[in-house]
Order: sequence, then C-alpha cells, then structure tokens
Amino acid sequence: MNIFATIEEVRAACRAAKREGKRLGLVPTMGALHDGHLSLVRAARASCDVVAASIFVNPAQFGPNEDLAKYPRSFERDCAQLEKEKVDLLFAPAVEEVYPPGAVTWVTVEELSEKLDGRSRPGHFRGVTTVVAKLFHIIEPDAAFFGQKDAAQVAIVRRMARDLNLPVEIVVCPIVREADGLAMSSRNAYLDPRQRMQALVLHRSLMRAQSLFDQGERNAAKLIAAAREEFAAENLARLDYFEIVNPDTLDPVEDVSDGALVAVAAGIGTTRLIDNILLVNSGH
Ligand code: PAJ
Repeated sequence: MNIFATIEEVRAACRAAKREGKRLGLVPTMGALHDGHLSLVRAARASCDVVAASIFVNPAQFGPNEDLAKYPRSFERDCAQLEKEKVDLLFAPAVEEVYPPGAVTWVTVEELSEKLDGRSRPGHFRGVTTVVAKLFHIIEPDAAFFGQKDAAQVAIVRRMARDLNLPVEIVVCPIVREADGLAMSSRNAYLDPRQRMQALVLHRSLMRAQSLFDQGERNAAKLIAAAREEFAAENLARLDYFEIVNPDTLDPVEDVSDGALVAVAAGIGTTRLIDNILLVNSGH
C-alpha cells in the first residue's frame, strides 16, 4: 500500500491508474477503523481494480463543543488493517493540506443538511460535503463507498453528487453490528462497560419499530411512540431524535406503507451515537 500525505502525489498516482483504464474506488474514513469501515473496503475491492482509502479527521465537520480533540486515532493499526484488505493507495493528509489558510469556500446541500443530525449538529453536514467534494476532486474515483450507518450523510452525499453532476457512483453498504446489535462506530471506544450496555437502547428502539411494522402497523406516530418507550425505560440515555423519514428527502412520513428510514440519535454519557433501519415493504 502506498501512503500519500500530499494532494499532488496522490492525484498523480490516481491519474496514472485511471490512464490505464482501471476502475478506481474510494473509501473515505476518519480512521479508528473497525469492521464497518472494512466492509466498505471489501465492497470496493470486490468491484474496483484499484482501491483508495482516505484517513482524515475532518475538523470542519466537528462543532466547537464536539469531540475533535479526543477523536480516537490509531494510524499504525489502521494502516495494517488496510494493507491486509489489499488497499492500493492511502491518502492521509494533514489539516493544512486539505484546508490551506484563507480557504472560505464551502459545499452546502441546503435543507437536507438541517435535518436529523444536522439539526443538533449545526454546520456538521457542510463540513462533510465540503471534504467529500474535495476528496472526489483529488482522487477522481469512479465509485465511492459509504455506510448506511450514517443514513443522513448518504442522502446528502447522493444529493450533492446529483446536484453538482459529479461523475462518481455512490455505493452504499449495510450497517455492520456487534453480536448484540450495537452498530459499530469509532465512538463506541468512548463507552465504559455500563454505558456499553445502555447503548443497546438505540438498537432495541429500532427493533421495537421493526416488529410493530412486521405485525402490520403502518402509522409512523405509533411506531415512534412505541420506540420512545424503550428510552423512557433507559433513563441514562438522552434521546436526541427518533424519526421516521423518507430516506432521500429526510422529511418525516406519516404512513410507512411505501417504506421509510427509521433513524435514532442519543447521548450515552458524553458520547453521541446514531443508528437506523430501513423499513421495506414486502410488496403485498
Ligand atoms: P467515519 O465515521 O470514519 O466513517 C467512514 C465510513 O464508514 C462512512 O461511510 C460510514 O457510514 C461507514 N461506517 C461507519 N460505521 C459503519 C458500520 N457500523 N457499518 C457500515 N458502515 C459504517 O463518515 C465519516 O467517517 C466522515 O463523515 C467522512 C465521510 C469520512 C467525511 O469526513
């Protein structure tokens, strides 16, 4: 695996691959890699000739009171894992390489960026779309791989690619979970054993909505009310949102007959966790 810290060098390597007619896949990450990230790498490896990954803890997507300074970093270990998954190129720039002093240009997907996590994390999605647009311009991938774990991010990145005519295929991979259902996240490392137990309330609330849906309930308000009961019983978890929305527009839906995204965010101690499921109508 070749590791690049500068835009100039990684761009030269990616262009060389593309000149040879290779299909280039990109997996953008902030490092502290786990099996969720690696599932994206494997999907890229399975469908692309050359796989590029990026590790960049993007300051622009963290709010002033968020966990940028303590965000977990494990660069050596991450490199070993990516190497094992046969990643060809790793782009791991410093902050100044990505944001030269004086940079004042942003990419904003309006409206969608104010929904779900965007409501409680102002500016977060502007930071995400700006850095993802930069990575797309630097790497020029044919396909880029994202996890369904961050469902709002998926909707927003897809919309950006469509609205700006970016020539990249956005591939979305399923959520990878721990054996007990907790969605894998770099932030799970913050949880102490007691909080790790409490964190299961997110998945439990989603399963509650799923089982009512499986029994035929199609009224979103009823699914939400049942799911919220799980949070009432777990008093140390602070519910941020539990919403049922259209997965493309992120607007609330009242009736889930045509399928919907069920998304939850909650604070466990000082750790903010998110999770979601897609309700899919079996079609009768
Ligand atoms: P990060 O949180 O490191 O996640 C990188 C990618 O891994 C994202 O597409 C995310 O959805 C995916 N991912 C994380 N946990 C997952 C899980 N349990 N199952 C499946 N996929 C999972 O998301 C970001 O970084 C950043 O916002 C980024 C896109 C890199 C821009 O800075």
